Amino acid sequence: MKLNRCIKTLLIATALTLPLTAMAAPTPIVIKFSHVVAQHTPKGQAADYFKKIAEERTKGRVKIEVYPNSQLYKDKEEMEALQLGAVQMLAPSLAKFAPLGVKEFEVFDLPFIFDNYQELHKVTQGPVGAKLLSKLESKGIHGLAYWDNGFKVMSANKPLKTPEDFKGQKLRIQSSKVLDAQMRSVGANPQVMAFSEVYQALQTGVVDGTENPPSNLFTQKMHEVQKYVTLSDHGYLGYAVIVNKKYWAGLPADIRTILEGAMKDATVYANDIAKKDNEQALAGVKKSGKSQFITLTPQERAAWKKAMDKAHKDNMGRIGADLVQEVYKATGYSPN
Ligand code: LMR
Repeated sequence: MKLNRCIKTLLIATALTLPLTAMAAPTPIVIKFSHVVAQHTPKGQAADYFKKIAEERTKGRVKIEVYPNSQLYKDKEEMEALQLGAVQMLAPSLAKFAPLGVKEFEVFDLPFIFDNYQELHKVTQGPVGAKLLSKLESKGIHGLAYWDNGFKVMSANKPLKTPEDFKGQKLRIQSSKVLDAQMRSVGANPQVMAFSEVYQALQTGVVDGTENPPSNLFTQKMHEVQKYVTLSDHGYLGYAVIVNKKYWAGLPADIRTILEGAMKDATVYANDIAKKDNEQALAGVKKSGKSQFITLTPQERAAWKKAMDKAHKDNMGRIGADLVQEVYKATGYSPN
């Protein structure tokens, strides 16, 4: 009895001497943001920037833990982890949404559909982009924003200049049926593989080549195990930032509003740095002297486009002809 009173007195005394802030500080809400690329990429930097401003603006009430480079999860696992609530935020490439049951996102993978960022933004920042994000809701996912990366180069150990050069090449792709069709349209043999495994697969010859924006090629050192890089800009790769819908709805309203504001600003930041990051990466690849650049003449590029148009035709039904037409209208795509 006596001992109990003693402990009680001691506890009260300790509480009284503690600074008020230490006593009042609630446990922060922890948001785990997992992604598969290096920190020095458009997505890696934007995730770090979001963390910085979100933590500042919520004054310690929210802690964002960013896990880059597939440290926590690989491509497929991270989607499952989000749905199970093991992570709260992701920014998967738009090519990785079909396994969730939202095949429409593969419209972004159609070869040559965007000529530049302006055309892309007509979609991602317009009604079509918003409509696509809303399709995620029925899957228990809430889409917050689109973040840019960039236009893809094609790399291999042989020069890829004409459609015929692709014949029999084993090329790594993301898990997208449109990308599968794109590679098959030029006679290549596409292989779906997690991003974290690509470097080793290229190094050991499991695959002959791949496609990615320069920022991914460079930061994963893929150029060190690829003799040639064709500057084709034949397709686009970018992201949707997503959260678990239930989790997001369950956040205190004031916190959610601050985080939405931070995401808006992080999106401006992401889309500002993407082009420059990719240019710098390309300069880095060039400086390394490890792989040789191949530029296409307008005629050669037109031949790629003509052959790869088959990926459009073959996937109209899968993506939805109306959606594809809406995007064509926004970007002005026409086969040549
Ligand atoms: C890839 O798998 O090639 C990309 O989606 C990686 C990324 O997130 O940029």
